[in-house]
Amino acid sequence: MSGTGAKPAGVVDEADAARAVRQMFDAIAPRYDLLNHVLSANVDRLWWWRTARRFRAVLARPDAAVLDICCGTGDLTMALLNRRPRGATPILAADFARGMLSRGARKFGARKSGAPCAVALEADALHLPLRSASLDLIVTAFGFRNLANYEAGLREFYRVLKPGGQLGILDFAEPGGLLGRVYAVYFRRVLPAIGRLVCGKDGPYNYLPASVGNFPPPGEMLDLMRAMGYEECAWQPYTFGIAGLYTAARPVVVEERDE
Ligand SMILES: C[S@@+](CC[C@H](N)C(=O)[O-])C[C@H]1O[C@@H](n2cnc3c(N)ncnc32)[C@H](O)[C@@H]1O
Repeated sequence: MSGTGAKPAGVVDEADAARAVRQMFDAIAPRYDLLNHVLSANVDRLWWWRTARRFRAVLARPDAAVLDICCGTGDLTMALLNRRPRGATPILAADFARGMLSRGARKFGARKSGAPCAVALEADALHLPLRSASLDLIVTAFGFRNLANYEAGLREFYRVLKPGGQLGILDFAEPGGLLGRVYAVYFRRVLPAIGRLVCGKDGPYNYLPASVGNFPPPGEMLDLMRAMGYEECAWQPYTFGIAGLYTAARPVVVEERDE
């Protein structure tokens, strides 16, 4: 499990994987929102809303420092903003693909004056330009799976979270049973074909099912989160387990271990 991460076709190392992922999202950015809503029949909006609701207590605190990492075109950020009080500290919305981030920034900029706001930040999730122990909440939607190294991602999130800070990772999963088999046909055959049609590109929508297949199943992800020092690790399936939200916290006090 250690050292696993996204592996777009043809990449040889982690730097290569990160570059391929960034180029792919920059390339599909103009069509990303449209395709997302079409391919998920708008269920993605429900998933972002549920994620924001799960963290409503921390979002309601005006001084809470919140990061949406791998924010893409900013739809999870917008759902989080709906839970922020007026005058709250701006949410940091970060991504390394400029094409995606600039679309998010436009959405944040179009908010009514005086409404809770977000700041767009071009940054790599594995090397965040943020102080250690500075954040109360990190959330990410459909981005974690794309990191070149999952362990390094969890380590970096742990570093920037305050003790007691919370983490939420929303991502796809592969449901089991009959529904899982039917869904697999949609996800592996129909979805790439629609993606190709709308986007005019082959790669990204073949990469999506491949990346979900490569992503650790919930039991393994939870083991990894615990191994990286997180506590209260849990997974909440959404929509029959097509997606799900991992939650965890950086411990307030780290117990000394006897060697
Ligand atoms: C599938 S999109 C999800 C966007 C958005 N969160 C959503 O829910 O629609 C994945 C995003 O993760 C970003 N991403 C992947 N790896 C990243 C990394 N190492 N650092 C920052 N962003 C990354 C991509 O650029 C892309 O915008």
